[in-house]
Amino acid sequence: MKRVTIIYWSATGNTEMMAEAIAEGAKTDGVEVKLMEVRKATVEDVFNADAVALGCPSMGAEVLEETEMEPFVASLEKPEINGKPIGLFGSYDWGDGEWMQDWEARMKQYGANLVAPGLMVNLTPGDTELEACREFGRNLVK
Ligand SMILES: Cc1cc2nc3c(=O)[nH]c(=O)nc-3n(C[C@H](O)[C@H](O)[C@H](O)COP(=O)(O)O)c2cc1C
Repeated sequence: MKRVTIIYWSATGNTEMMAEAIAEGAKTDGVEVKLMEVRKATVEDVFNADAVALGCPSMGAEVLEETEMEPFVASLEKPEINGKPIGLFGSYDWGDGEWMQDWEARMKQYGANLVAPGLMVNLTPGDTELEACREFGRNLVK
């Protein structure tokens, strides 16, 4: 059984919609999918999974949400993250994706194995974007 964990933060539901579609895509035979908000997650949920997706919209000025997501991501800087297959995703509005570029660089620097480019959706995902999220989920478990 392969364990996939999807952990996200979302205020207005856009990143949450992405998380749910990623979970749908990842849910195949022999895969156990855990979908959870970051406030309920622990580092073990990441370290004990075979693959992980982390989601957060662009907040502040092109940064992760600072109360819950930022400290959680910071807590992943441990030897256990080394080589862990991880995918990043999130919604944004007016920016150019700088938050995602910075987040990807950071996870690589921690030693994570980024399985795909960060998946960004402008505001609310439509049908095409939701399909891209399902595909992202399928790739996570490959
Ligand atoms: C306080 C705040 C700060 C934001 N900062 C940015 C930003 O720097 N760049 C950007 O592209 N979007 C920014 N946004 C827009 C959000 O990323 C966008 O509304 C997103 O869809 C929210 O996702 P959610 O529905 O998962 O909460 C900001 C929104 C809020 C409320």
